[in-house]
Amino acid sequence: MLRKQLFKNPFNIDMMNIEKVNVAEKLTSFKEYWSPKIVGELNQQLVKVAKFKGDFVMHQHENEDELFFVITGTLYIELENKTLELQAGEFALIPKGVLHKPYAPEEVHVMLFEPAATLNTGNLINDRTVTDIDRI
Ligand code: NI
Repeated sequence: MLRKQLFKNPFNIDMMNIEKVNVAEKLTSFKEYWSPKIVGELNQQLVKVAKFKGDFVMHQHENEDELFFVITGTLYIELENKTLELQAGEFALIPKGVLHKPYAPEEVHVMLFEPAATLNTGNLINDRTVTDIDRI
């Protein structure tokens, strides 16, 4: 069997910069709803956390699939012909082009995974659009 040789730290990564991330702690550091915060980045994708409460807007993303992972609470994602109900520990992938409207009657905490180019309101630009996303 052909095996690739393992190189020791070929990219010269400073191991001291590799840290765990405590998601619950990140979530205590902000209060705003519908304003995702960046908590990590890998392979041109951003890892974000957000708090949702109430209704968002129906929107779609032309070029990006979206991942919604529920940490606490219940998240509903309304699609054109059905509504997903996500509980803590569950996630859904919304393929590009699919209209979706997240909503949460009670506060819900979510993790999002999407390319850096993704706008939270997709093809809509309105007062809910967040363009300058904080890193926390
Ligand atoms: Ni979206």
